[in-house]
Amino acid sequence: MSQSMSEIKVCAFDAYGTLYDVHSAVGTHRERLGNVADSVSMMWRTKQLEYTWLRSLMREFSDFWQVTGDALDYALDAHDVVDGDLRGDLLQAYLELKTYDEVVPVLSALKQADIKTAVLSNGAMAMLEAANRSAGISELLDANISVDEVRVFKPDPAVYELVTRKFSVQPEEVLFQSSNAWDAAGAAAFGFKVLWVNRFGQRPERLPARPDYEATNLNHLLELLKIAT
Ligand code: LAC
Repeated sequence: MSQSMSEIKVCAFDAYGTLYDVHSAVGTHRERLGNVADSVSMMWRTKQLEYTWLRSLMREFSDFWQVTGDALDYALDAHDVVDGDLRGDLLQAYLELKTYDEVVPVLSALKQADIKTAVLSNGAMAMLEAANRSAGISELLDANISVDEVRVFKPDPAVYELVTRKFSVQPEEVLFQSSNAWDAAGAAAFGFKVLWVNRFGQRPERLPARPDYEATNLNHLLELLKIAT
């Protein structure tokens, strides 16, 4: 193991897009949206993130459940979708998102190797708990950390600091995984070691800090930490 990896005491994970496939919510109700399904799903996610950044700048925090509902309302309205029950059904599906295939094996291997694991997410605590329960990963996590505690969204440094406070560790002792390139940049700027899980072959962001590592899925984390599966 490299010198820098031997320092790692905590592996922290972004939730949405990294552990959870956010597009699986629309996927569950795809036939009700017809040919606008993918477009609705993309706009829902884009607006959701924009609203977190805007609310943080406006100092008008509302939790991620509110933001997720507002973003969905925008996306359904923009696509002229009229289906009375669909909003509630899609939000329910957001509490039961599918994990990416490698998530359970990777978290299990980290647990076996006695490495502390945590989710660090914009998600409201109740959303994270519901999703973790539904996916069967609650027992594989040492901590579930929500921005609810600081009432500001990523990439505010106060969010990343929640991990160092929770585990009484230095930023460089945390390896943070995110598929969201802007989140990976925020975490790297804070001082975490960062693995950018570039699931969708995106180009690197031009932001002040860059992730240390890049891979297409979370399995690379086990290679970095030299953990056998
Ligand atoms: C989260 C968002 C960024 O889980 O996906 O924090």
